[in-house]
Amino acid sequence: MKYFMLSIVLLLGVLSSCSNAQKETVMKQNETLENLKTRRAIRAYQDKMPAMELIEQVVEAGTYAPTGMGRQSPIIVAVTNKEMRDSLSRMNAKVMGADNDPFYGAPVVLVVLADRNCPTYLYDGSLVMGNLLNAAHAVGLGSCWIHRAKEVFESEEGKALLKAWGIEGDYEGIGNCILGYPAQAAPTPKPRKPDYVHYVK
Ligand SMILES: Cc1cc2nc3c(=O)[nH]c(=O)nc-3n(C[C@H](O)[C@H](O)[C@H](O)COP(=O)(O)O)c2cc1C
Repeated sequence: MKYFMLSIVLLLGVLSSCSNAQKETVMKQNETLENLKTRRAIRAYQDKMPAMELIEQVVEAGTYAPTGMGRQSPIIVAVTNKEMRDSLSRMNAKVMGADNDPFYGAPVVLVVLADRNCPTYLYDGSLVMGNLLNAAHAVGLGSCWIHRAKEVFESEEGKALLKAWGIEGDYEGIGNCILGYPAQAAPTPKPRKPDYVHYVK
């Protein structure tokens, strides 16, 4: 009888821990989905450099983006040097014929480039950008995709930068993920268009 009771207690313990594990999984999934839905483009930043550990976490998440045939065609250049960040900002503005800061004061720029020799480079690089933006939000940083990386790294000045960074090969600029602590509340997203999704059942 004693052993029977002990077995029942053990069984109940196992069952309750199972359901806790399942609950945890559901919660984690929801947290991820919530993160994907609440990320917004941030266009005002505090003049404060995020801790390197946070930047590394974001960058690492970028490297885990899926890539065609797992070829990992993109590369990420993480710029925290103020002078370099300012040069990239100036070069980006020049593409638009402007002289403002297209990086909205963000202290960090993660430049994503991808190898043109890989047929899926554009998709691969864009997914890396997506991971970076979502990972930034997950660790409490603001971010925004800033375009014109293609034009910047096709310019002579951009090519010289790649060379100076030791990057050789046929790399195309995909995007700049700016990062920093937000100096604004997250904007309210536009409602999703009604015909966004077509279910075929
Ligand atoms: C391919 C691409 C290029 C973008 N380029 C810029 C840009 O140069 N400057 C900018 O302020 N935002 C840029 N954005 C951010 C979008 O404007 C922003 O994601 C969009 O307005 C939706 O807002 P949300 O990200 O808050 O949902 C870009 C986004 C994408 C996907």
